[in-house]
Amino acid sequence: MPDIALKLEGIYKSFGGIHALKDVSFELSEGEVHALLGENGAGKSTLIKILTGVHKMDSGTIQVQGKTVTIEDPVDARHKGIGAIYQELSLVDSLTVAENIFLGHEPTTSFFGTLRKKELIRRAAEYLSSFGIEIDPSTLVRDLGLGQKRIVEIIKALSINANILLLDEPTTGMSRVEIDTLFEIMDDLKLKKVNMIYISHHLDEVFRVCDRATVLRDGQNAGTFEIDKVDLKTLVKSMLGRTLKEEFPVREGRPSEDTLLEIEEFKTDKMLAPVSFSLKKGEILGITGIIGSGKSELALGLFGADRAIKGKLSIAGKEVRLNSPDDAKRHGISFIPEDRKEQGLFLRLNVEHNICVANIDLAIKNGIISSKKKSEIATDTSEKLKIRPLDIKMAVQNLSGGNQQKVVIGKWLCGEPDILILDEPTRGIDIGAKTEIYSLINYLADRGTGILILSSEFREMSAICDRILVIRKGTIVAELEGKDSSTEQLLTLALGG
Ligand SMILES: Nc1ncnc2c1ncn2[C@@H]1O[C@H](COP(=O)(O)OP(=O)(O)OP(=O)(O)O)[C@@H](O)[C@H]1O
Ligand SMILES: [Mg+2]
Repeated sequence: MPDIALKLEGIYKSFGGIHALKDVSFELSEGEVHALLGENGAGKSTLIKILTGVHKMDSGTIQVQGKTVTIEDPVDARHKGIGAIYQELSLVDSLTVAENIFLGHEPTTSFFGTLRKKELIRRAAEYLSSFGIEIDPSTLVRDLGLGQKRIVEIIKALSINANILLLDEPTTGMSRVEIDTLFEIMDDLKLKKVNMIYISHHLDEVFRVCDRATVLRDGQNAGTFEIDKVDLKTLVKSMLGRTLKEEFPVREGRPSEDTLLEIEEFKTDKMLAPVSFSLKKGEILGITGIIGSGKSELALGLFGADRAIKGKLSIAGKEVRLNSPDDAKRHGISFIPEDRKEQGLFLRLNVEHNICVANIDLAIKNGIISSKKKSEIATDTSEKLKIRPLDIKMAVQNLSGGNQQKVVIGKWLCGEPDILILDEPTRGIDIGAKTEIYSLINYLADRGTGILILSSEFREMSAICDRILVIRKGTIVAELEGKDSSTEQLLTLALGG
C-alpha cells in the first residue's frame, strides 16, 4: 500500500475575483491526523469542499492512494472513501438519528417498510455502541443538543466506511465530555487506519490529536509542521504572518460603582432556577459553566426573548419588564446570540446591510438615511473586526464561517449599547481576530458599557473578566474576581467537584 493516502498539488480556486486557494499543495500520510490551520477566510473549508466535490477546483491534481482522481460531487466522494463533517451541520432535523446516519445509503435488506426501519435502527444502534456512544437511534435529531448532533454527523460520515475523514471545526458547541468522546473515536479510527484532516481554531485540540499541521495563509501554503517539534508561537506566527504580542489585551479602565442592571430572583419558563446578580457600569462580568448549565437560557431572558415569570429586573435603578427583544433594545440592551447563523444574520444580504440594520439611527442625517454614512459605519466596523474580504457589498453567505461570526458581532458592537450581552463571542473566530474582539470589549467597557459575557472558555473568562459567576444546573454556585481565578478552578466549580 502506498504510504500517501491523499495528495493535492497546485490547487487553485477562485470565486469571482476572490482567490480562495492559490497553488496549494497538501499531503496526508497513511495513519495520520493532519491539521489544516489558518485565519478566518484562509481557505480551509474551501479545500475540504473541493475534496468532497461540493466545489470544483479551477486547476490542480488530486491523488487518492497514488491514483489521480476527479471528484464530481459528494456522492462520488463517498464512493472514493472520502467522508466529511462540514462546518455547518447537514443533518435533517425532522428525521431520526438512525435515518440520518444512513441517509442516501439505507440498507435494502427488506421489502417491508417497518422491517427496514427496524433494521435501520438496529444497525445504527450497533454503530453507535461500537463507538461507545449513548444516543438512542430512534430519537429525532431536532431533540439533540448541538454537541450530540455533531457526534451523529461524525458517525454518519463514518457509516460509508470512509478511508479519509475530513473534520471541519467538529468541536463547535461540544461539551468537554463530548470532545473527549470525539477524541476517543478519533484514536480508535487511527487504529482502524482511517486518515483524517482536522480543522480547528483551538490549537490545544490540535496539539492533542494531530500528528502534523499545514497552515494556509491568504489561500496559500504557509508551512507544514510536525506537531511534536513545533510550539504554539511558531504555529500562530505562521497563521497570522506576525507574532501575536498578547492574546489578551490589557484593560485600562475599572468598573464604576453605579449599578446598571440588577436582577433579583429572576426566572423565565426555560430557566431551571431563579437567579440574582447585578452588573455595574463599565464592568465586564462573565457567566461561565459547562454546556447545558443554563447560561443561554438566562441570556434569552435578559434580552426579552423569553418572558420572566418570576422576580425583578431593573435597569439603572428602575424596574422594567422586557416582553420582547425590541423592549430590551429600547432599554439599551444588545444581545449577540450563540447561534449566530440562525438568529443573527440575513445571509443573502450584504455585509453593509447586516451591520446597519440594527443601527439605522446612526446613519440618519438631516432626517434621511444617508447611504454615505451607512457605508462609513459598515466599513469602519469591518476594518475594526478585520472582516475579510474587506468588501461591504459582499453577500454574507459568501464569507467564511468565522467572518460571518464577525459580522454579527460588528452589528451589535457599533451601536455602542449601554448593556451588551455576548453569548460565546469568540466561537469559530481565529486567534488573531479574537484579540481584536477582546480589545473592542475593553473599549466599550472603558466608555461605560456594562458587558455580560457568557462563555464556556474558562481561559478566556479568567483573562478578560472583572468578575465571574459560575452557573451550574441553572444556579449561581460561585462568584470570583476574574484576575484571581484559574482555568482549573473554574472547571472544578462548573463541574461541581
Ligand atoms: N461560495 C462562495 N462565494 C464567494 N466567495 C466564497 C465562497 N465560499 C468561500 N468564499 C471565499 O473564499 C475564501 C476562503 O473561505 P473559506 O470558507 O475556505 O475560509 P476558512 O479558512 O474555512 O475560514 P473560517 O475559519 O472562517 O471558516 C473567503 O475569502 C471566502 O469569502
Ligand atoms: Mg471554514
